[in-house]
Amino acid sequence: MTTPSTSLPGGTWALGDLTVTRFGYGAMQLAGPGVMGPPADHEGALAVLREAVALGISHIDTAGAYGPRVTNRLIREALRPYAAPLRIVTKVGAVRDERGGWIPARRPGELRDAVRENLDDLGLDALDVVNLRLGDARGPRQESLAEPFEALLELQRQGLIRHLGVSNATAEQVAEARAMAPIVCVQNMYNLAHRQDDTLIDELAGAGIAYVPFFPLGGFTPLQATALSAVADRLAATRMSVALAWLLRRSPNILLIPGTSSVAHLRENVAGAGLALSEEDLAELDSIGRRRR
Ligand SMILES: NC(=O)c1ccc[n+]([C@@H]2O[C@H](COP(=O)([O-])OP(=O)(O)OC[C@H]3O[C@@H](n4cnc5c(N)ncnc54)[C@H](OP(=O)(O)O)[C@@H]3O)[C@@H](O)[C@H]2O)c1
Repeated sequence: MTTPSTSLPGGTWALGDLTVTRFGYGAMQLAGPGVMGPPADHEGALAVLREAVALGISHIDTAGAYGPRVTNRLIREALRPYAAPLRIVTKVGAVRDERGGWIPARRPGELRDAVRENLDDLGLDALDVVNLRLGDARGPRQESLAEPFEALLELQRQGLIRHLGVSNATAEQVAEARAMAPIVCVQNMYNLAHRQDDTLIDELAGAGIAYVPFFPLGGFTPLQATALSAVADRLAATRMSVALAWLLRRSPNILLIPGTSSVAHLRENVAGAGLALSEEDLAELDSIGRRRR
């Protein structure tokens, strides 16, 4: 499923009939503090998006809830008309309250509104991939996704969505979605220190479904571990580079969407993800997740 048809580390992956680079970009960090409001540096945010595409990245992750409606509009302003290989993956299922809280919004009418809003803000006739975001701000919750997922399937039948995925999902919810219709990706929290989805990742790899870890660098709390620093020091690399290179090695179905509001960090991450890790490095890094699992 992966091919080296890009100079970016990791090659490419097929989300259904859509080919994307395994090295993608997560746009959440482009909104203001707390993922609310506009960025402090509007031109700087546009520059990050344009640099991502210039580097060959063809997978951008976003959501109407970022800002809200801020990152989608930045993407439209920076990149439309969209270059042919670019695929934009968005999420529905949560809205923001006035204090920045993330409120579940998964009733069929709310999902229909969210899809329409994403289409308007991104300036598209159809969305490439829509993830149904489940659970809440504390994490996944065990509950049926049948009703909201069926609402998205109806929008897919209407031609407004090409492919579906789920996010913040339990393994049971992934199975429930797959029993209803094909999905192309699962986007959950996962990184060197949070390995709760190890079994799910392997199962999805076997089924040709992408696993897209959010918070690949630790999110709002940068990844820190003695073993990570030791490997980074030994390779004269940054901890971010090691964390990203490890994810690419972890499984061929893992797609990266590290977030940054900095062109310099974006370049650094692209270069760093190509870092070669030895078996000794991998064993040492694996010990981080084992200790915390
Ligand atoms: N499905 C969901 O529920 C969900 C939840 C959260 C996020 N997401 C998605 O996942 C994407 C990634 O998550 P994330 O952005 O929250 O977390 P992340 O990628 O783990 O980390 C981003 C943080 O790392 C910093 N950073 C990035 N590269 C760096 C570098 N080379 N050196 C130093 N610092 C660096 C960024 O700061 P700078 O801006 O200063 O570089 C930012 O604070 C998001 O953009 C979003 O699209 C999805």
